[in-house]
Parts: sequence; C-alpha cells; structure tokens
Amino acid sequence: MNRSEQSQPTLVLIHAFPFDSRMWGPQRTGLGEAFDIYTPDLPGFGGSPRLDGEELSMELAARFVQRELDARKIDRCVIGGLSMGGYVSFECWRLFPERIAGLILADTKASADTEEARNKRFEAAEQIGHGGYGEYVEGLLEKLLSKKTTDERPEIAQAVRDIALSVLPETAIAALLGMAGRSDSTSILPSISVPTALIFGEDDAITTVDEGKKMASAIPDAKLTILPKAGHLANIENAAGFNEAVLEVMDRVGNLALR
Ligand code: MLT
Repeated sequence: MNRSEQSQPTLVLIHAFPFDSRMWGPQRTGLGEAFDIYTPDLPGFGGSPRLDGEELSMELAARFVQRELDARKIDRCVIGGLSMGGYVSFECWRLFPERIAGLILADTKASADTEEARNKRFEAAEQIGHGGYGEYVEGLLEKLLSKKTTDERPEIAQAVRDIALSVLPETAIAALLGMAGRSDSTSILPSISVPTALIFGEDDAITTVDEGKKMASAIPDAKLTILPKAGHLANIENAAGFNEAVLEVMDRVGNLALR
C-alpha cells in the first residue's frame, strides 16, 4: 500500500513564540501535497480570538488544540511543535494520547524553567508591559536564527521579524507567563509510546542539541535529527532537512498502522 492509499493521520503543527501559524509556510509548501496539515494559531495569536486578560498556560493551549481537533473531526494526528509548540505538544500527550499517532518535538525541551529563566520571563513581561515589545523582539531575533541565516538570508530574518512584530504585546506577556509556569515533562518521556521525531538546528542557541539528546535517550521510539545551517527556527532555516525528518516519522507511523 502506498502513502496515498493509506488513511494518513493529519499532521498538526504548533507554532513557536512569538509567532503564529505562518511560520509553517515551508512545511505547507513542502508537505501539503502528501498530508492533510493543520496549523492552529494558539489563543491570542494570528487569527485566533484575543485573550481575555488570562495567562496562556501550556495546558490551556493544549485544550484549545483539542477543541479545534474536535471541531475539525480530526480523530488521529501526528502532533508537532517547535519550542513553545513543543511545550504544548507535551500537554497534548498528557491530555489525549489516544489520538496521537506520532510526535515531532523540534527545538524544544522537556524541562521546566529554572528560577533564573522564570525571572528573565518576568523581566521581559515587564519590559513589554512598558511599551518595549519592539525592542524585546530585536533582542530575541539575535538568538533565534543561526549567524549563517542572518548573514546570508536576510529575507528570512525580515519575515520572522514581521511575524513576531504582528503579535499583540498582551499576547506575548500572556504566553511568557504561561511558559514560566509550565510543568516539567521529563517524567512523561518514557510514556511516549508513539514514533517520535526530535529535530534540532545544529546552531540552536535557545534549546541546544543536548536537550534533543536527553529526550532521545528517554523516549522509546525516538529518532534525533540534527540539521546543519539552522538555529532555533530549524523548520524555516533548513526547511528541506526538516521536511525530510517529518516524512521519516510519518513513514514510521504509517508502517506501524500496516502491521
Ligand atoms: C519559542 O521559540 O517558542 C521560545 O523560545 C520558547 C521559550 O521561550 O522557551
């Protein structure tokens, strides 16, 4: 049976912070013919309704994804998330593992914030609350992309900046607080019983390849792919390599279904 004859699970891709579903453009283009792809805008981001002053916990975000899957009648999916999207993917696994046929965890980590990281988020929330969102984004951009991408492909830096700057400051604050309060997911890694792709940009300065190695040793059916020419936004910086790794896990999921 080839891919087109199987009933493939939908590929659900959850965006990073501070972005929205537009960051998955290279995956829609490269993989959209092979799979049904759904890329939600998390609450407050992109086309989703504005938040009502509440913190965007990773659990709230996962419950939102669950409701959207219900509304779209998506029973079985492969869930993928990059960075904050990965934190939300862990919550999805906690909430509805029976619907998840595979996982893609990209440039993310299972651990919770350290106290230092949490304090940095509170400082950032304060800076943004005082009108400093633009400045915050500029600082973040320096860490998000590999030097190679910044130097050689300025159009990527500009596209990423444009998406980040379109996020409402209040949404950014809500997500920062939500990420600061997220649970540690290290203990659930051995329970991840589905094929899993761990995809990391070689030069990721925010969630280093070491995080991927740690998760690879704890998740039973995980494959770690380290992408050259990519930093934290590996799906954009090395889209071909990223899409290849997604195809590989979708094949593993498909092969299991055939057994
Ligand atoms: C992201 O890319 O989603 C963020 O770097 C996640 C984080 O701040 O922990």
